[in-house]
Amino acid sequence: ISLKNYNTFGISTNAKRFVSISSYYDLQQLIKVEKDLFLISGGSNMLLTKDIEKLVVHIDMKGISIDNEDDNFVYITVNAGENWHEFVLFCIAENYGGIENLSLIPGNVGTCPIQNIGAYGVEVKDTIIKVEAIEIETGKRVTFSNKDCEFGYRNSIFKNKLKGKVILTAVSFKLTKKKHQLNTSYGAIEAELASKNIRKPTLKDISDAVIAIRKSKLPDPKEIGNSGSFFKNPVISKEQFLKLQKEYPNIPFYEIKPFDCAQGDITYKVPAGWLVEQSGFKGKRFGDAGVHEKQALVLVNYGNASGEEIYALAKKIQKKISKKFRIPLEIEVNVI
Ligand code: EPU
Repeated sequence: ISLKNYNTFGISTNAKRFVSISSYYDLQQLIKVEKDLFLISGGSNMLLTKDIEKLVVHIDMKGISIDNEDDNFVYITVNAGENWHEFVLFCIAENYGGIENLSLIPGNVGTCPIQNIGAYGVEVKDTIIKVEAIEIETGKRVTFSNKDCEFGYRNSIFKNKLKGKVILTAVSFKLTKKKHQLNTSYGAIEAELASKNIRKPTLKDISDAVIAIRKSKLPDPKEIGNSGSFFKNPVISKEQFLKLQKEYPNIPFYEIKPFDCAQGDITYKVPAGWLVEQSGFKGKRFGDAGVHEKQALVLVNYGNASGEEIYALAKKIQKKISKKFRIPLEIEVNVI
């Protein structure tokens, strides 16, 4: 079958064999007989460049359950196949706080820990208390505490040591019921709330602000195929940053302080979108492959681009940025 509707880039490569799995039990039975699988969930962080030979397994387990609650917190377990944004909206309707800044991120709940999704000053790791999975080799159920997940910027153990070894089946969150820790420090959110004269924002106000910002900058995958940020924001040394700043006084940056201030130096995270824009790629189109006109960090498929065409564009951008700024840009999306 064509995988076009199973990846947000809208790339139409094919799966020779495909199965959609809607229960933990079915998944357990499946891996008894077949272990060499290609997993697909929300399909929001992958670029398919070829047909898939392995059995394609669409993770589609649904369900949200409240495990426990007290006056201040609620503990919720969500099955992997639930759509992320629908879960966020559920939480906002119930007045559960913690993930409102992560509104409108494409993908499913089961993949949110893998790259530790983040936006507007919040990372999902701040609310995750447990991740449940099946170990492919043994078929055994395994659970990971927050610490076990080794979360980092767009990173976790599931992208590293455990890549290809486990299938995530559910994620448990600890969310606030009152005294919400609102995070409105991100400039664009502040501006959006101010423009509506909101001084004491509710969870819904923040979610609405994030939705408005994302809609104004990021393409909707239902209209234009894309995988969100295609590159990671690179981190460079102080020395290199100061040199660049001399040449480009307006370069935006975030300072990253080392955990141990006595040891390592401060490093600087530079927005990849800015680098791509400065390199002249913003809004450029090569056939059906392009760089989004409002956010240069996002590569887009205008209709019938192949995965190879998008990948070729990515490599062209990397080459240019490496030459112009001497910065290696790392691809954030999984290229298959
Ligand atoms: N910028 C440009 N040109 C562009 C895009 C950005 O000059 O085309 C500059 C902006 O002016 C701003 C800076 O880059 O000074 C940062 O831009 P923005 O606030 O849009 O955030 P970002 O660093 O580009 C990151 C995440 C996004 C997340 C936003 C908001 C990564 C790789 N990306 O983008 O995540 O939504 O912050 O928190 O960390 C995603 O991962 O799919 C994603 C969209």
